Amino acid sequence: MRQILEDSAQRAIAYLESLEDRRVAPDPASISALSALDEGFPQAPTDPALVLQLLDEFGSPATMAMAGPRFFGFVIGGSLPVALAANWLADAWDQNSGLFKVTPATAALEQIALDWLLEIFGLPSTCAGAFVTGTTVAHITALAAARHAVLERVGWNVEADGLFGAPPITVVTGEEAHPTLFKALGVVGLGRNRVVRVPVDAQGRMRPEALPHLSGPAIICTQAGNVNTGAFDPHPAIIEHARQSGAWVHVDGAFGLWAAAAPSRAYQYVGIAQADSWATDAHKWLNVPYDSGLALVRDCDALRAAMAVTAEYLPTAGEQRNPSDYTPELSRRGRGVEVWAALRSLGRSGLADLIERTCRHARRFAEGLSAAGYAVLNEVTLNQVLVSFGDADKTQRVIAGIQEDGTCWCGGTVWQGQTAMRISVSSWATTEADVERSLEAMLRVAAS
Ligand SMILES: Cc1ncc(COP(=O)(O)O)c(C=O)c1O
Repeated sequence: MRQILEDSAQRAIAYLESLEDRRVAPDPASISALSALDEGFPQAPTDPALVLQLLDEFGSPATMAMAGPRFFGFVIGGSLPVALAANWLADAWDQNSGLFKVTPATAALEQIALDWLLEIFGLPSTCAGAFVTGTTVAHITALAAARHAVLERVGWNVEADGLFGAPPITVVTGEEAHPTLFKALGVVGLGRNRVVRVPVDAQGRMRPEALPHLSGPAIICTQAGNVNTGAFDPHPAIIEHARQSGAWVHVDGAFGLWAAAAPSRAYQYVGIAQADSWATDAHKWLNVPYDSGLALVRDCDALRAAMAVTAEYLPTAGEQRNPSDYTPELSRRGRGVEVWAALRSLGRSGLADLIERTCRHARRFAEGLSAAGYAVLNEVTLNQVLVSFGDADKTQRVIAGIQEDGTCWCGGTVWQGQTAMRISVSSWATTEADVERSLEAMLRVAAS
């Protein structure tokens, strides 16, 4: 056992150290070589050392260097070394972290991490929380609680009776809400299309004057951090509107919620703590390994009503928090352990520095690109930059050229009709030198 685990650790360390110099996207030859793994199911056992060797020889070169310092696609954090190390240790523990009585260490660490998170986000310590796989599942979790609460107020028990014949729930989103929100609405039976979509401004922020008049059960889904622009919906006005009708406000803060931790960005967080539920990721800006998201819900009873299970064979009774009372899963890994490790290591000032630093890097990208004459399409108030290199064809060619060049990696998007390249700076590992090196590559490719 010792030998294979040490071999694995050495290979992982060598992989991470190689990311400084290797191209960010895997080369086509490495991708083709993956076919070597595509063999029939072995009839007999294989030496575990050889299995690991195959994985490293063929798998490692065909990975995208998302753990490295110059991956700027989607919204992808790296892994803080302490979070990765905690993940390794917790995986060795192999705890099925549903119930405190059975797995006290992971359950207690998740409780502590949750308390710290509520403090960071300025939320009451009585809020409930669920450590889930990502924001998509955090939406599903929080919206299940929302569905419970708004229907309970009109005398309907949705867990017992489902949505057949239930009073209708009005769901409101912004026109630029993230697609995973609509997916989550579909999963919880509220429908992807049965939604009132509110018009937005040029940054993707909901226009509060266009909010519909609400009466009866209603859920308003807002956004803290648009995936393209990083913009925040105007929460104070939306929450005031919601309060008039008792609507539940759910916030998609997949990455933007972390602005609360950064003094120079926290102005955008105004009003958000008054909402009813929040979904965010730890695998984005907190830089813990995949997969790690978080649902937070003000009404603890509503989340428990939606998620808790009991059975004679499960020791669920007790004073302590059982993680599975709040999550869609019963069996689950204690992913809050890495969140605890990251927060314990960073502390308040380290977390603020991580958020501030990545935002500064984004601004430097925006300044460098606009100084060279390229149009930055968004107000860069967070860690997202949208840049156009000319018409759609030219911008697409530059994006493909940058990906091919390999110095860094950025993806594309179409923002309100305009083709653009997205730069998202979310990794702890990105330095000023990485930004300058990447900017040089972008400008070289764009000029060629
Ligand atoms: C604003 C927003 N919401 C939701 C998501 C989905 O998050 P996840 O992929 O962790 O489910 C993302 C991912 O980029 C996002 O940026």
